[in-house]
Amino acid sequence: MDFVDLKTQRDRIKPGLDRRLARILDSCQFIMGPEVAELDKTLAEYIDAKHAISLSSGTDALLLSLMAVGVKPGDEVITTPFTFFATAEVVSLLGATPVFVDIEQDTCNIDPARIESAITGKTKAIIPVSLYGQCADMDPINQIAAARGVPVIEDGAQSFGADHKGKKSCGLSTIGCASFFPSKPLGCYGDGGACFTNDDKIADTLRQLLNHGQDRRYNHPQIGTNARMDTIQAAVLLEKLTIFPDEVKARARIGARYTQLLNDAVVTPTIAPGNTHVYAQYTIRMENRDQAQQELSKKGIPTAIHYPIPVHLQPVYGHLGLGQGSFPVAEAAAAEVISLPMHPYLSDEEIERVAEAVKDIS
Ligand SMILES: Cc1ncc(COP(=O)(O)O)c(C=O)c1O
Repeated sequence: MDFVDLKTQRDRIKPGLDRRLARILDSCQFIMGPEVAELDKTLAEYIDAKHAISLSSGTDALLLSLMAVGVKPGDEVITTPFTFFATAEVVSLLGATPVFVDIEQDTCNIDPARIESAITGKTKAIIPVSLYGQCADMDPINQIAAARGVPVIEDGAQSFGADHKGKKSCGLSTIGCASFFPSKPLGCYGDGGACFTNDDKIADTLRQLLNHGQDRRYNHPQIGTNARMDTIQAAVLLEKLTIFPDEVKARARIGARYTQLLNDAVVTPTIAPGNTHVYAQYTIRMENRDQAQQELSKKGIPTAIHYPIPVHLQPVYGHLGLGQGSFPVAEAAAAEVISLPMHPYLSDEEIERVAEAVKDIS
């Protein structure tokens, strides 16, 4: 059994994908070919955002977003300690400091009630993460931020395709950032990502930043980097987008089936009111998590831990002086979470086999 099965999906999209790839190989437009603009248009329509700016990874989407809103050395950026490292890493790369706020017990997303007291005169952005595939509670976060004139950058690396109160994840705040890492709900065949915004000026800045700060060829009003989306990856994403709504439905159905089978035995994911879940990860909680992982592995069931060490306890953040006990809800989650195999092509038999094995050891 695969944790994520990309092979079945590949067989499904093969004819269309082969045609698209052949066109690029024939044209040799590997950098900024027409597929990239087509992808931006298709992505913007899907998210219902004025601008989609595809680029090289989810990490670069976050980094360039912080640059576009002017985060500088000495600034502070509020985020969650229970996320993939990149969320905080990009803050530190710019010489700013991540300021962590503990998470909600049930969704594992940043707790809006704790944000206000973390805001200081140095706060330059808030990054809620839509962990595992459902959005954080965006309305109060946007309200707190608007009252202080602070931009909100949604880290939607895991939630592309999820809905929040009738709108799409990544289209809910100043900027939304997606990752198209291969195992994400929408993944390419390498690294990729995108930023979404309704702000024309931010969109222009992002387009420059991803291409060395150029506004036109060889004219550089600002320092940027090379964070361009590859033409080949754009083609992969365009083809995958044709089946994506169907895959999002399959993910929801499979997640619901897991929950139905496991609800009495373990802590299953809570879907907050107004949210749909794309289950980038189907993550349960078990007190005997480490032992469970070993037992499941013996039965041929792959699992993963997202994430075993909260970001504030990472060695590189030791200087922040945030020891064990600083964010107890995140720390408890890190000790108990375990993600089960999840992809749109899991069969009923596979779901039942995983659920039975989990129940046996819970
Ligand atoms: C929450 C979160 N943020 C950021 C990233 C970084 O995305 P990428 O791997 O595309 O750089 C990831 C991807 O693993 C993620 O899960």
